[in-house]
Amino acid sequence: MEPKIDTEDIQGHVFPGFGTTHSVVIALQLQNSVEGRMVLASLVPEITTMSDSLGKKDARREAAIRGLPRPAQQTVSLALAIGATALRSWGHDTRGFDLSFHEGMSKDAASLGDPVGDDFVPLEWTFAKGEEDRADLLLIAGHSDPAGLEQAVERWLQMLEPHWKPVLIEFGRRRDGDKEFFGFQDGVSQPAMRGVTAEGEYLSRRTIAADDPRAELFAKPGQLLIWPGSFLFGYSSQTTLPTQAGATVTPPAPWMKNGSYLVFRRLLQNVTAFREAIAATEEFLTAQGEQLPEGWLAARLVGRWPDGTPLTASPDKADADISKNPLRINNFRFFASLSPTPLAETGEPPQSIPEVPPDPLGLVCPRVSHIRQVNPRDGISEIGQENHPGKLMLRRGLAFGPEEEEDPDAERGLMFLSYQTSIVNQFKFVQTNWANATQRPTGDGLDPIIGQDGKQDTKRSLRLFAPSGRQRQCPFNGRFVVATGGGYFVSPGIAGLKYLLGIDNPGD
Ligand code: HEM
Repeated sequence: MEPKIDTEDIQGHVFPGFGTTHSVVIALQLQNSVEGRMVLASLVPEITTMSDSLGKKDARREAAIRGLPRPAQQTVSLALAIGATALRSWGHDTRGFDLSFHEGMSKDAASLGDPVGDDFVPLEWTFAKGEEDRADLLLIAGHSDPAGLEQAVERWLQMLEPHWKPVLIEFGRRRDGDKEFFGFQDGVSQPAMRGVTAEGEYLSRRTIAADDPRAELFAKPGQLLIWPGSFLFGYSSQTTLPTQAGATVTPPAPWMKNGSYLVFRRLLQNVTAFREAIAATEEFLTAQGEQLPEGWLAARLVGRWPDGTPLTASPDKADADISKNPLRINNFRFFASLSPTPLAETGEPPQSIPEVPPDPLGLVCPRVSHIRQVNPRDGISEIGQENHPGKLMLRRGLAFGPEEEEDPDAERGLMFLSYQTSIVNQFKFVQTNWANATQRPTGDGLDPIIGQDGKQDTKRSLRLFAPSGRQRQCPFNGRFVVATGGGYFVSPGIAGLKYLLGIDNPGD
């Protein structure tokens, strides 16, 4: 039995996310504990619940099916998350919380691979480095209309200042084809959360024919069903037996039931340096006698073509039949072969999803590629494939900054946001034990997109199978993704927030 999910209490940014065209992330520092808590309480009625977000997502899906434009939102979607220092100033002991959350991200910077000085202060951070510009509160908002979003931001700041001081206001927007600035569709592979709504419907739509054993494991083909305790406190955990509910994940405090941890990293993307590194590596491979088709190397670094087509499903070119079909875009594994997947009866073709060959050695999708390092799926790693699902997180990345044509020198990049119930075992594990490690999960080099080793002038190399079929060790020099600040936060449910902020319990 899958648990009933409290869709009225959980914040809608945790699941299913906002999916709006325009967005903003505002980080604020608490200036005055008592007044800060009081004014924050007035924002709670505006927070978007999971049930609101599910409704908006359904409306977008309906419109897409009918070939209509994305529907305009009537209201701004809002999420709110709080840092450890603010909690402590309100009298809460954070020692029983996730250790990374308790200590704060700037203390974690060195272990995340960000270059730090002798005093361990992150050298490249432009906010949230220390006491003066620490981020104690994160507001994340989305809307279909940029002017409406700006007005809301102005109004919220008026409500919160001077008791909260903004340390970062970053607007973002959905780029064409949902592409991040290196030019690849992002936000494609997401775990599907198990559980049912109050109406008894599955939270994540099931699409595989019920008599196929994969229907128990996947929502859409290739999209793993994960027990909600991986993302939300108070629900059954994911164990190595994927179909069985594990023990309830205990909240670190009673008010964190229906809550989650939020990781935020503002990641600059140096698009020119990325292109130059690719060109230099292509030159190196060509000098070895390799014939490189256009875009071959860049796709190998990510593991997908720019439109999201997985290399394993289409090694030689992007294929819109795959990338435009949500039932095919994630349908691949690395180790075991996938026979055709029969679909649940909808009365409409197709009735099944074609077979995708495995690629255990990384002949097609290099083992060093970003998607393989951060999610080895059923492939090999030092922790064993049965433990991989437990590392998944809900990613909510937002692109920020102008297009290159508008302003080539401006900062641009990705506001990385992820929800999980363990920062240490999910986000931090993936960044430090896999992306930043040359020997794990498989030993072919650092993750070429996000891997870092604490050095500013990284000389790197990676190993992959070239078009000739030969394995080549290639130089791949430079740093293209630079963290400029961030923080760890809690995203409580609405009841938890009301408790924390003294709503409905004024004597508290
Ligand atoms: C600027 C930085 C980053 C860029 C440009 C980037 C880009 C991408 C792209 C293009 C994909 C493939 C499409 C998709 O499945 O969404 C992807 C997937 C993914 N990324 Fe990143 N990413 C970045 C940062 C990160 C960070 C910091 C993490 C975690 C530590 C991360 C974890 C993941 C995961 C878990 C997936 C899904 C892999 C799968 O399940 O197949 N990414 N990223």
